[in-house]
Amino acid sequence: MNVVHVRVKQGRIEAEPAEVLVLSHHEGDSAMQEEASIVDRALHGSLRGLLKSGEFEGKQNQTVLFHTQGKIPAKRVLLVGLGKKKDIRTDTVRQAMGTAVKRVSQTGARSFATPIPGLAVPSASPLEVAQAMVEGSLLGAYRFSVYRSQASSEPKGLARITMLAPTNGKVSDLEEGVRRGLASAEATAFVRDLCNHPSNVMTPTRLVKEAKAIARERAVHLKVLEKQSLERLGMGALLGVARGSHEPPKFIVLEYSGHRRTGRNSHGTKPIVLVGKTITFDTGGISLKPAENMEQMKADMTGGAEVLATIRAASRLRLPLHVIGILPATENMPGGRAIKPGDILTTLSGKTVEVQNTDAEGRLILADGLTYATRYKPAAIIDVATLTGACTVALGQFAIGMLGNNAALKKRLDQAGLQAGERVWEMPLWEDYFEQLKSDVADMRNIGGRGGGMITAALFLSKFVGDYPWVHLDIASTDWSDRERAYIPKGPTGIGTRLLIQYLINQAMESKTK
Ligand code: BES
Ligand code: MN
Ligand code: ZN
Repeated sequence: MNVVHVRVKQGRIEAEPAEVLVLSHHEGDSAMQEEASIVDRALHGSLRGLLKSGEFEGKQNQTVLFHTQGKIPAKRVLLVGLGKKKDIRTDTVRQAMGTAVKRVSQTGARSFATPIPGLAVPSASPLEVAQAMVEGSLLGAYRFSVYRSQASSEPKGLARITMLAPTNGKVSDLEEGVRRGLASAEATAFVRDLCNHPSNVMTPTRLVKEAKAIARERAVHLKVLEKQSLERLGMGALLGVARGSHEPPKFIVLEYSGHRRTGRNSHGTKPIVLVGKTITFDTGGISLKPAENMEQMKADMTGGAEVLATIRAASRLRLPLHVIGILPATENMPGGRAIKPGDILTTLSGKTVEVQNTDAEGRLILADGLTYATRYKPAAIIDVATLTGACTVALGQFAIGMLGNNAALKKRLDQAGLQAGERVWEMPLWEDYFEQLKSDVADMRNIGGRGGGMITAALFLSKFVGDYPWVHLDIASTDWSDRERAYIPKGPTGIGTRLLIQYLINQAMESKTK
């Protein structure tokens, strides 16, 4: 993604010399917003005219663009609809900006100015509104054209945003919102990039290279366990999944030590551990997947990519936290040496698993990743994984599946999801379901049979986290979009990244006030 400069300033909106001035309006509002009516007066009533004629109603993500004919320094005005006032959420703002940025780029403009609507979202602070505006703008402008040989024919991307602050607002708060927005959006774009790259490029080895680049950031340290170490440690589950592949598996550990080490209670240094499913391509293995849509399985490393991006963002935002990211990385391939249905693997925890379906590989590699996470005696473990098709069946494309063993942690992730517009929905993690995971020959089997597929997968994982506070996020429902949305492209979405970063920001804020 090209670098976008965002500036917050106070000034008269009608005097701003922008390529495009982006203004918003609520459907059904008879009065215009303050900034819009100021511009309308300078334009001798052209905005009001558009509303009166019914050409523009302010429906969510509706737009109208017109030239100002030299009446004000801004060349064009773009009106974007926010929908009905009673329905507004922070995500409405994100969507409006994502929509606006696309319309702006169609004009050939690479910059725009927009007021930060002061009290536009009752449930959010001005800081959060500014953050959402930046996120929507950058993510709406996202494109992936690395593999187009004629990239020059595409319009140049967004370069600059000027955000006009209300004169009564605190500019420093808005600037903090911009900073968070930039970090979250850049992280999401990074995840989209990693997932867009095909599996012949984005191998476990290439992911190590990406992790090495992140290890050059402030207070980040990298450890990579190669196959030999995995054998020595006894990571039989990860090694089992990797057997069918010619690509060597990698176990990537990134540690961000941004916490203050001077605190008297050692509790403050207990890390938050993030574990991401990193299957660089999931063919299903010997339990081969059908051909249709199989190419989407290049994104079966979304969880791992989100963990990498989150560690990078935590460092760039200098969050005063201790965070560890773990990526068990491998392909899932059929082959002469591949594991077969009925094979029994001994996991790092010592528990044995009968592999009844080699396509249920995510939970196998995560079992070893989660056991490894417990070595840090963490304050919390969060895993993110494109784990089950059942998640999509249950939730469709607008909710991430959440299951976990700790109410406080689940509540925090629920809250972060609401703020990020990447909402989670909880499913039960009742022990009753474990009968579906019983094996005749091993401690458990890796599939749960008919019914409750998202639940049995999570219950399987729960056997590897000990008593540590843990939440599992199933992102199989949201990781890939089959159509373009306001700030979400067709293909890899990166959804979950901003949720994780928001959770860390909230944790950092909490530790400051303690
Ligand atoms: N990576 C898939 C889950 C998936 C499916 C993610 C579709 C995104 C879109 C996972 O490894 C898988 O294959 N799960 C199986 C589990 C089953 C064999 C118990 C599934 O959901 O079918
Ligand atoms: Mn699979
Ligand atoms: Zn998979």
